Amino acid sequence: MAAHNRTADAFVSNRIYAHIVGWGMAVPDRVLSNNDLAAIVETSDEWIVTRTGIHERRIAGETESTATLGLKAAQRALEVAEILPIELDMVIVATSTPEYIFPSTASLIQDWLGAAKAGAFDLSAACSGFVYAVNFAAQAIRSGSIETALVIGSETMSRVLDWQDRGTCILFGDGAGAVVLKASDVEGGVLSSVLRSDGSGWDLLTIPTVGSQDAELPGADSVQQKMGKMYMNGGEVFKFATRVIGESIQQALAQAGLTINDVKLIIPHQANARIIQSAARALKVEPELFMSNLERYGNTSAASIPIALCEAVEMGKIKQDDHIVFVGFGGGLSWGAMVVRWGRPESVERRALYRQRQQFSYFLAHWRRRLVRVSRRFNETLGRIRPEQGRIRRLRRKVERQPLD
Ligand code: COA
Repeated sequence: MAAHNRTADAFVSNRIYAHIVGWGMAVPDRVLSNNDLAAIVETSDEWIVTRTGIHERRIAGETESTATLGLKAAQRALEVAEILPIELDMVIVATSTPEYIFPSTASLIQDWLGAAKAGAFDLSAACSGFVYAVNFAAQAIRSGSIETALVIGSETMSRVLDWQDRGTCILFGDGAGAVVLKASDVEGGVLSSVLRSDGSGWDLLTIPTVGSQDAELPGADSVQQKMGKMYMNGGEVFKFATRVIGESIQQALAQAGLTINDVKLIIPHQANARIIQSAARALKVEPELFMSNLERYGNTSAASIPIALCEAVEMGKIKQDDHIVFVGFGGGLSWGAMVVRWGRPESVERRALYRQRQQFSYFLAHWRRRLVRVSRRFNETLGRIRPEQGRIRRLRRKVERQPLD
């Protein structure tokens, strides 16, 4: 209640900020190297490294999925934030490889976590999805409508790759990253964001799915696209990416009243080392200003920025009050850049017995789910029995009313 009053007061005086207070990542153990790929398609380690900078990527095992990887990343982010699932108001999963078209992968994770007071939805903006999702979580926090949000970028790209297409299967990998955002009256957090789309390039990077009408849509690329498999026009996507990265970063910085000289680290979507180098040239900065870990994970789509963020924090590349930039780009075409002033507000308290309470809440969530599902099934069976009982009662009454011979 006290927290709510504080938020309401801060809102009235227009002083709510959305801070990133937790971060976590999860990648599968299985490594697929460039040499492993050379046994599947006609390619070589040398070609992949020189054209992309990628050395290896992670591939989900049989029991791993977008939801299970996202859950692990989320649990780690909550642990860093020392926030219990029950305190979450919103769960957003940015993904292009959801478990189902519906229900959302976010709803599955919300349930597994036991985030019983949270709304949940998936956000589809391909590799820009994480920037889009953080933006909407931050907006909701700044408006005062929610206090705490969990944003996850999670992908199992290996399941939508055409493993015969050497132009795409060498680029992508699986993984998940997550952040927790929280309201605070301490200045900082998400300062600005620029989100853009150019749907005229819809067919340059696409995964046709149920309901797709590729053949009928005007301007479709002549190459045959396969249902449920990724198709990409690499050259065009390359040109698009190098153009929008610098442009959107400058726009987001201007919106925050900053210049590129104020930036400590840029965390770009990890697509291709050459794209990052070309963006650095366009911005007239050293490539080292850009965080890069794509050599180990490849392109993990919506998960790549939060994974790179986690590793940047671990490597000590980001300190309190540093200005950092996220920039994403991909299918849509869509792109987005965001400026964040890093730092946990002092008001985030250390909590006694946090780990035990977190574990207990997962235990409760597990049993709550089982109970709810059993009682739903019980009610369903009851629903089937009741009309049957009614029919028998009516029949009995009818028989009783029959005159005896
Ligand atoms: N191994 C070996 N040769 C390959 C190959 C591979 N994996 N993939 C393509 N080639 C061949 C092509 O067939 C072509 O051969 P050809 O000249 O005999 O026709 C040659 O290499 C050059 O192909 P091209 O497509 O012009 O290469 P490129 O320099 O443009 O690099 C990409 C291809 C995909 C690496 C590059 O276009 C790219 O990175 N684009 C952006 C992709 C991206 O980041 N997408 C995600 C955005 S979110």
